[in-house]
Amino acid sequence: MSNFKEKYGPWAVVTGATTGIGKSISKQLAADGVNIIAVARNETNLSTLKAELEVGHGVTVDTISADLSLSDASNVIAEKTAHRDVGLLVANAGIENDGFFIENDINAESKLLALNIQSPMQLSHIFAQRLSARGKGGILFVSSLFGYQGVPLVANYSASKAYILSLGEALNVELRPLGVDVTVLSPGLTKTPMVDNMAIDFSKMPITTHDPAMVARVGLNALGKKATVVPGLINKIYAWENRLIPRSWPVKLFGFLLSRARTNSDAEIEFRPE
Ligand SMILES: NC(=O)c1ccc[n+]([C@@H]2O[C@H](COP(=O)([O-])OP(=O)(O)OC[C@H]3O[C@@H](n4cnc5c(N)ncnc54)[C@H](OP(=O)(O)O)[C@@H]3O)[C@@H](O)[C@H]2O)c1
Repeated sequence: MSNFKEKYGPWAVVTGATTGIGKSISKQLAADGVNIIAVARNETNLSTLKAELEVGHGVTVDTISADLSLSDASNVIAEKTAHRDVGLLVANAGIENDGFFIENDINAESKLLALNIQSPMQLSHIFAQRLSARGKGGILFVSSLFGYQGVPLVANYSASKAYILSLGEALNVELRPLGVDVTVLSPGLTKTPMVDNMAIDFSKMPITTHDPAMVARVGLNALGKKATVVPGLINKIYAWENRLIPRSWPVKLFGFLLSRARTNSDAEIEFRPE
């Protein structure tokens, strides 16, 4: 048995397991012999993932089709996973809304909070209790580089990711004595369907794009070693800059850069550090 499976197996719950970063995490866990409970809404994508991982890696994959932004979703996940010996929760599912906050649909912003904050908070509460009762396991939260500061044009999204970063940092300390490792993975720009669907031309920004497999590997490798991890050197610098210079500067800088990279609007945000 691999060390990883021994520590965080035999089952992992992965939310948002069917595409992007969640899919890469699921594949890497399966390659390590960990059985997967994959959660997402699209049933076809869940069936495809199940076939791919079971045939490719000889693991067992349970699928749960659920909209995690709904208020009873966490209870459904709790019930449907109760018979499995879960050693790892990967709270990955998330959405973004871009644009000026006041122009965005308030229902979409509320749904974002339900999925990006309420769901990981409730799931981590459920699984922290189970994992601590068995005396070992892990929780991997997926935040974002944008969680390290307020970011104009993705204001509610960046705020939701700041919550996850803060929650995970605190739980890392609370749960360690109980045998539960907690890590917050904060990716920068990663080539996934989420990014493909944004009205932003990221090639106009001074940032690098990472492959989801690399991001997944960095997150899984950090479990049990680090409370927080940011993939890539440039992203690490972005994450740390607001601790070295006035916090308002990178906030304004990102607002300026994102406003110039938008593909559906010419409205520009000025960069005037004060
Ligand atoms: N890509 C980036 O550049 C980037 C950067 C920083 C942080 N992140 C974070 O990384 C995480 C994964 O993002 P990604 O880029 O890999 O996104 P993605 O490719 O769009 O994948 C999102 C996954 O979440 C599922 N999902 C979406 N809404 C859901 C809902 N209401 N209920 C249950 N499942 C839902 C999707 O499946 P269904 O649609 O079938 O439900 C899919 O499996 C997110 O938390 C995101 O904020 C991404």
